[in-house]
Amino acid sequence: MLTGKKIVLGITGSIAAYKAAYLCRALIKKGAEVQVVITPAGKEFITPVTLSALTQKPVVSEFFTANDGSWHSHVDLGLWADLMLIVPATASTIGKMANGIADNMLVTTYLSMKAPVFVAPAMDLDMYAHPSTQQNLEKLKSFGNQIIEPTVGPLASNLEGKGRMEEPDRIVEVLEAFFEKKGELISKKILITAGPTYEKIDPVRYISNYSSGKMGFALAEECASRGADVFLISGPVQLQTVHPHIQRINVESAEEMYRAALDYFPKMDLAILCAAVADYKPVHCAERKIKREAGENLTLELVPNPDIAAALGNNKTDRQRVVGFALETDDEIAHASEKLQKKKLDFIVLNSLREPGAGFQGDTNKITIINSKGMIKNFPLKSKKAVAADIMDTLRNEGYAY
Ligand code: C5P
Repeated sequence: MLTGKKIVLGITGSIAAYKAAYLCRALIKKGAEVQVVITPAGKEFITPVTLSALTQKPVVSEFFTANDGSWHSHVDLGLWADLMLIVPATASTIGKMANGIADNMLVTTYLSMKAPVFVAPAMDLDMYAHPSTQQNLEKLKSFGNQIIEPTVGPLASNLEGKGRMEEPDRIVEVLEAFFEKKGELISKKILITAGPTYEKIDPVRYISNYSSGKMGFALAEECASRGADVFLISGPVQLQTVHPHIQRINVESAEEMYRAALDYFPKMDLAILCAAVADYKPVHCAERKIKREAGENLTLELVPNPDIAAALGNNKTDRQRVVGFALETDDEIAHASEKLQKKKLDFIVLNSLREPGAGFQGDTNKITIINSKGMIKNFPLKSKKAVAADIMDTLRNEGYAY
C-alpha cells in the first residue's frame, strides 16, 4: 500500500522525536519515499544526519541554505506529496497549524500542502487536556486533517496519562489503511447535489426548506478522501468544503441546480442527489417587494420545478449510476421504492422524519438503503460522516460504483 507513496514527514521538538527515526525506517522499508521537514526545536532532539541517512535525502529545515542561498520550496513539497505526516506534533506546532502561524519551514509546508495531513500529537497529559490544545485539534479536524490520537501510558515527565505518541508501527498501519481505502475509488468522477434551493417570490423573499446541506457535504468529503474527483453543486448553505479534490458550484434556485447538474453529468461516473430541491416555484418573481394590502389575502401561483434526479436517471448511460435520497413521513419504504423506480435510480437512501436524530439540520442520520434489485438495508443512528462512509461502502459492496 505504501510502495511509491511520497510522504512529507514533519518532525517537531518533542522527546518522542527519536521515534520518528523508527517511523522513517518503517515507511522506507514499505517502499515509501520520505522527505523530512524538521523544526528548529526538532533538531535539538534528533539530528538531521540520522534522518538524511535513513531517507537518503537532505533534511529540510530552513527556508534557505545558508551557504549558497538556495531556496527550499514549501510550495513544491505541497504539490509533491501524496501525504503529510506530522510526528511527533507538539502543542506549539498544533497551535501554529490551527492559526496559520507560518514562522518555520514545517508550518509553511503544512499551509501549502495539497495532500491529506495526519497529525500524531505527543505531549504531557495536562498540555494535551488543556482546552487550548483541544480546541486547536478540533480546528485541525475541521480543516480535514486526521488526528492519530495519543495513547494513555507513562510519559517523559514521569507522569502517566493521555499524551503518549502512538507507536510507529501503528502509525504505519493507519497510513496503510488510509491508502487502501483511498485506492477503492480511484479516478471516479462524482457529482453531488446538496442543500436547499431558494425559489424567489420577490427581491427579499423566497420559498425554501430546512435542509442544512450537512449530509451532502459529508458525502463530498468522504468521496474525495477516497480519491474521487467530486463536483459538489450546492444550494445556499453555511458550510465549507475542505478537501482539495472537491470542486464546488454554488447555485440558488432549483432551475440553476438543474442546469448545472445536466451540464456536469455527461462526464460523471456517479451522481448522488442529496439536495432538498423545492418542488415548486412561484410563476413570477415580483420585480419589487410585494406590499401588504390590509385585509386582503395574497395568492401565490406555483409551478413545478424540473426533477433533477428523474432527468439524470432517464439520461444515464450504461456506465453511469444515479443515487437519490428520500425523506418520508409515512409508509417510508413503499414511497422510497416508488421514487427509485419512477426516477430510474440505482439506489435510494431513505431517512424518515419519524426517526429521532434523522433528517434535516442535525449532525446524525439514520438511513435505509434500497436498490433497484430489491435490497433493503437498515443502518443504526450514526454521525453524518459515518453515514456517508456506509453509503459509499454499500455502493462498493453491491458492485455499483467501483
Ligand atoms: O422530492 P423527492 O422526495 O421526490 O426527492 C427524492 C430525490 O429526488 C432526492 O434525491 C432529491 O435530491 C431528488 N430531487 C431532485 N430534483 C427535484 C426534486 C427531488 O433531484 N426537483
